[in-house]
Amino acid sequence: MPRNEKPLRPKVIVTRKLPEAAEARMAELFDVELNEDDHAFSREELAAAVRSCDVLVPTLTDRIDGDLIRGAPERLQLIASYGAGTDHLDLAAANKKGIVVTNTPGVLTEDTADLVMALILSVPRRLQEGEKMLRAGQWAGWAPMALQGHSLTGKALGIFGMGRIGRAVAVRARACGLTIHYHNRTRLSEAEEKEIAARYWPELDEMLASIDILTINAPQTPQTKGAIDARRLSMIKKESYIINAGRGGIVDQDALIEALAEGRISGAGLDVYPNEPEVDPRLLALNNVVLLPHMGSATFEGRTAMANKVIANIRVWMDGARPPDLVESP
Ligand code: DGY
Repeated sequence: MPRNEKPLRPKVIVTRKLPEAAEARMAELFDVELNEDDHAFSREELAAAVRSCDVLVPTLTDRIDGDLIRGAPERLQLIASYGAGTDHLDLAAANKKGIVVTNTPGVLTEDTADLVMALILSVPRRLQEGEKMLRAGQWAGWAPMALQGHSLTGKALGIFGMGRIGRAVAVRARACGLTIHYHNRTRLSEAEEKEIAARYWPELDEMLASIDILTINAPQTPQTKGAIDARRLSMIKKESYIINAGRGGIVDQDALIEALAEGRISGAGLDVYPNEPEVDPRLLALNNVVLLPHMGSATFEGRTAMANKVIANIRVWMDGARPPDLVESP
């Protein structure tokens, strides 16, 4: 079928289990193939999927690289990804082939910001260490010197990536007494900066030396991949913390582990890792880190809203219009 003609009832392959109501709605609207047992698709399954559908609905666990895209027949016209991040998709290859790509931004902003804030609270205050000690039956009672962490009030939070999530984190962090600093490709407007009392740092290096907590809320792109490397980690103050709920690949994990193990950074809160679901055993052995299994957007409300966005994007595309969450290659 030529690309400008849309099938009345497109064949849609969804690679992971989605909220039930959304799957039911998809079955009403599309000729949908669902993933009943929610296994992560192998590369062979992904290759078979791209060969046999009009619309692919992958998630961040599916690496849709250039080879897969180039191997897709004309029939594949839309990749309606479930999730905000698009680093698992070769956007340039898709664009070159005329395949439309959409994502689901906006609806996971507040939930992800909540999780970032939870990590900002947990790590400097050593909440996971306290809980672990209590569960292990090692709590001998209150003591003036026990489990001291660091106050948040008056500390400087540096936000790397001031998009929707970064701004939502700033709002929460201000309520906890943190001052807001940020580095972003583009500067916020004066009014936006004023609203959250944020100081812009055009140079990431300079911001790093001035903050007490760094939160990474940037997307992973060729520009941000590996941006927090050994050199930049060495610029961060000793009594500081790193929170990453963006993408694991933005931080040089070996360098981070070394800095944490040597006490050059006080602690870290991580929700993402470079090769998920692998978690480096050296991280597991560290006490000063909180490790979460990529659950920033894991709420019933958020995951349903994400699925509804996928449906809306497919329907608008079926109507021949520009889908609301169109993603283009940078
Ligand atoms: C996304 O949508 O990219 C998030 O990482 C999922 O939590």
